Amino acid sequence: MATASNGPALLEARTLTSGYGRVQIVHRISLSVREGEVLAVIGRNGVGKTTLIKALMGILPAADGAVLFEGEDITHESPHARARRGLGYVPQGRGIFSSLTVTENLFMGERIGEAPVTPASYERIYGFFPILKERGQQMAGSFSGGQQQQLALGRALLGRPRVLLLDEPSEGIQPNIVQDMGALLRRLCKEERLTVIVVEQNLDLIRAMADRCIVVDKGAVVAELQPSALADPAVAARYLAV
Ligand SMILES: Nc1ncnc2c1ncn2[C@@H]1O[C@H](COP(=O)(O)OP(=O)(O)OP(=O)(O)O)[C@@H](O)[C@H]1O
Ligand SMILES: [Mg+2]
Repeated sequence: MATASNGPALLEARTLTSGYGRVQIVHRISLSVREGEVLAVIGRNGVGKTTLIKALMGILPAADGAVLFEGEDITHESPHARARRGLGYVPQGRGIFSSLTVTENLFMGERIGEAPVTPASYERIYGFFPILKERGQQMAGSFSGGQQQQLALGRALLGRPRVLLLDEPSEGIQPNIVQDMGALLRRLCKEERLTVIVVEQNLDLIRAMADRCIVVDKGAVVAELQPSALADPAVAARYLAV
């Protein structure tokens, strides 16, 4: 079990089982993250990483097991209720509305989370991603993949989540934006005690960001390793990519 090495767990899954209807994809996964920590979830395509994230967020129901936030059982809470507790989510593929403007997309982040969103909340996000202010009136669909990911991250950060669930944030994005994103998230973890669970295939981002890594295969956690272990090409080849 991927237990935090010290400190109480902020978000925890206990033998969590989930899937689609009667089709179980995630089998008895246990994991936990403590405040300020970054946990990377790695594994080959189709092993159930997205299903796990959706079950943590409450988008998919738990067939068995439990999800706990600050020790409280939230297994049967809606995604909205979890968001109000402080769970933020950036889906795989980013979930941007192409035919809305950048500002309109960002505005959707207001409805998520418990903290009141003020003009200062927007300025904080614009400080992280100036392009969201400069090109606010542009259609979000005209943005590049990297710019859309900045928008998705900005939208999720607007309500000041305590735990951010990120599903393959580097997918289809140029390396410099990936690096900047990793550095920003690392800084938020350090300075604001943000906690992150990130599904990722990008070795550089994992090594730049993650404190710990769990490996998922066939819907179960099969290994836990230090991100530095992925420097070994044989280890990386075994656990990552297609
Ligand atoms: N809506 C769905 N209904 C039924 N089965 C699904 C659904 N979505 C995904 N699956 C199945 O669940 C399994 C795990 O999918 P999931 O998307 O969780 O994998 P993943 O590890 O995130 O893959 P990738 O690396 O490609 O993003 C796959 O076999 C997939 O076909
Ligand atoms: Mg996925």
